[in-house]
Amino acid sequence: MRILLILAHPDPNSLNHAIAAAARRTLEENGHEVLFHDLHAERFDSLLPAGEIPRRATLPDDVARHCEEAALADGLVIVHPNWWGMPPAVLAGWVDRVMRPGTAYEFVGEDGGEGVPVGLLKADRAIVFNTSNTEANREDTVFGDPLERIWKDCVFGLCGIQHVTRHVFRIVCTSTPEERRAWLDDAARIVAETFPPEA
Ligand SMILES: Cc1cc2nc3c(=O)[nH]c(=O)nc-3n(C[C@H](O)[C@H](O)[C@H](O)COP(=O)(O)O)c2cc1C
Repeated sequence: MRILLILAHPDPNSLNHAIAAAARRTLEENGHEVLFHDLHAERFDSLLPAGEIPRRATLPDDVARHCEEAALADGLVIVHPNWWGMPPAVLAGWVDRVMRPGTAYEFVGEDGGEGVPVGLLKADRAIVFNTSNTEANREDTVFGDPLERIWKDCVFGLCGIQHVTRHVFRIVCTSTPEERRAWLDDAARIVAETFPPEA
């Protein structure tokens, strides 16, 4: 399978980078083609310019490549920390520019944009790995776990991805090296279960 792996974290020594590396290694060991993007390292420009909003806009080469890869992917893996209940801005901008009409979704027939679009992504499954410093019960009751709805409903659900597995590694700031090593094993296991070895 062809898997698009997107990482949004500025620190190469972060747990997020280690999770993405574990995911990439597992996918490659299982015979998958990995299209990997470290958005900070490649300095992905998160600002959606006005000229890119129209359905048939001409896109700069890097954005066009991201769109092509998203459209061709059989699966997606997204890795990012919880920042204010949101993805880091670079990843929010990636969604703005890459999950675009004609690539990720489309309004059809008489629907001028007021209705429910159809999802266009070929991928039928995705994994979202998040890291957090908030205890699970507080995240649910006080904040409503916004990342759960953002990824499962607002983004991937709308773009046609049926099966979304989200896993949160917490609490990072008090975690031990042993815990973090176990988390990387968990990440590898979830990736292997979602994207089993190629036959
Ligand atoms: C700008 C910023 C905003 C953050 N907001 C939250 C938050 O809303 N909830 C939370 O649990 N942690 C929050 N954190 C903590 C990060 O989630 C935590 O540092 C990260 O998950 C740890 O992973 P890492 O070691 O890969 O950086 C925030 C951190 C930063 C830098």
